[in-house]
Amino acid sequence: MISFFNRKNYVRDAEWLGVDVHNHLLPGIDDGAVDTLQSIGFIRELTELGFNKFICTPHIFTELYPNTIATITQALVDVKNALVKEELDIDISAAAEYMVDETFKVTETLLCLPGQHILIEMSYLSEIPFLEKVVFDLQLAGFKVILAHPERYGFYHKKPERYERLKDMGVLFQLNLLALSGYYGTEVKSTATGLLKKEYYDFAGTDLHHNIHLKAIKDLICTGKLYKMIGDYPFKNKMLF
Ligand SMILES: [Fe+2]
Repeated sequence: MISFFNRKNYVRDAEWLGVDVHNHLLPGIDDGAVDTLQSIGFIRELTELGFNKFICTPHIFTELYPNTIATITQALVDVKNALVKEELDIDISAAAEYMVDETFKVTETLLCLPGQHILIEMSYLSEIPFLEKVVFDLQLAGFKVILAHPERYGFYHKKPERYERLKDMGVLFQLNLLALSGYYGTEVKSTATGLLKKEYYDFAGTDLHHNIHLKAIKDLICTGKLYKMIGDYPFKNKMLF
């Protein structure tokens, strides 16, 4: 019999997290899944890992991926139709990952996760000077701001006060699971570990784009490493979504 104390060594799935709040599973509209066939393959494999709900978050990034509600909705419909054909009953919906740059505008029609949660990212090169204003304007308009993968912004690594400031402003943080495998490098991993210790994270997601991500995520989950690292962490994925 597996004792309660040994349970940590035996959890090799992601059922405890349940909802993937950040991924690029919708086909052909950003740098994620290339077609419906690949989308279905990714969804099938993630479901086998224990995820039971997917909120797809394609990039909306004027320069590279100028998606709209129409392009995202169509891609979601395509995937839903393909799931029906495959007789897969999966809870899947769509929001977006908004690149905050000079072209980003706060409007009433932003694509949100449930409860008016909006997922934003910024350039990995430097902090945008108007980030706090955008956060403030979004909050004023009634949105709850989630910053995607804060651990990946190298310009914050030596500036923990910036993380503190954003948390003080009420920004929610979303961890990329792959950060904990060292996939993005040791500095990102240690920053993620530090943010976990401070309990700064609110959500976790796969941010899955392609097969290499999938393989790394499977390794992290199926070896039991992920649960050992963060299985006890109070993520709000299931609670809020
Ligand atoms: Fe992403």
